[in-house]
Amino acid sequence: MPIRRSTSFEVLTVFLLVSVSLSCCSEGEESAVVTLDSIVIYKTHEWLASKPTVYFKCQGGNKTKLPDVQKVHVLYSFNGEESWQPLTEFKSKKCKRCGFYEEDSIKSDDVFEEWELCPSDFTAPDGEYVRYNKKEFNATFLCLECTAYSNVTSSSSHSHDTEKGMHAAAIILISVIVSTVLIIGMVIGYKYWQKKRREQDQARFLKLFEDGDDIEDELGLNDVI
Ligand SMILES: *[C@@H]1O[C@H](CO)[C@@H](O)[C@H](O)[C@H]1NC(C)=O
Ligand SMILES: *[C@@H]1O[C@H](CO)[C@@H](O)[C@H](O)[C@H]1NC(C)=O
Ligand SMILES: *[C@@H]1O[C@H](CO)[C@@H](O)[C@H](O)[C@H]1NC(C)=O
Repeated sequence: MPIRRSTSFEVLTVFLLVSVSLSCCSEGEESAVVTLDSIVIYKTHEWLASKPTVYFKCQGGNKTKLPDVQKVHVLYSFNGEESWQPLTEFKSKKCKRCGFYEEDSIKSDDVFEEWELCPSDFTAPDGEYVRYNKKEFNATFLCLECTAYSNVTSSSSHSHDTEKGMHAAAIILISVIVSTVLIIGMVIGYKYWQKKRREQDQARFLKLFEDGDDIEDELGLNDVI
């Protein structure tokens, strides 16, 4: 009986440890998706074509054409679910060199602006980032996951660290609790077993007493009582 008791505690411990390790390692790699929320262009660069072909591109990435953006001084708003969204994504807090361009039929494509797009540019709480260029455009980007990297001072990365620290602390705390529970369980089990054995011995003693056989000898053996 006491043995079965402590086994169930062991099973519980293993279960808890497994779930802790699962929860700690299932976070996986984070990627932060950048979508275009709105854009206004103030000019076009193409002389011949009546409709410009505006696109967004990051170095080493694909062209993302903005099929709707054709008129100057018109605010184009997006909901983030358009077929061409998202614009790009960050795998770390490293910046990317990105820009808005316009396809040019004759010479190389025209540049609205090219700049370093950084996860830390996106500000909490919505993960919004406004890129305004007086002559060329005003664009709003969204990246909610980027706020984790936000440079609202480096205290943000600080808080990331504290978060990790707290995570570790939680694991340690849980381990301590589990060990304590295990030890208490074993102690209780042992006490229970002792009590049971004492009862059995007593029962045997009483039985012997009733039978009246060689009490002295048996007493000698059952000193333990
Ligand atoms: C670029 O486009 C190709 C083909 O559509 C796709 O396989 C690839 O993942 C894209 N790359 C990026 C960085 O989005
Ligand atoms: C740029 O666009 C954003 C969002 O539409 C707006 O809040 C902001 O006032 C605009 N800035 C300028 C200078 O037009
Ligand atoms: C991030 O840092 C840059 C350079 O230190 C600063 O210009 C910018 O305003 C900061 N952004 C935020 C959201 O604090």
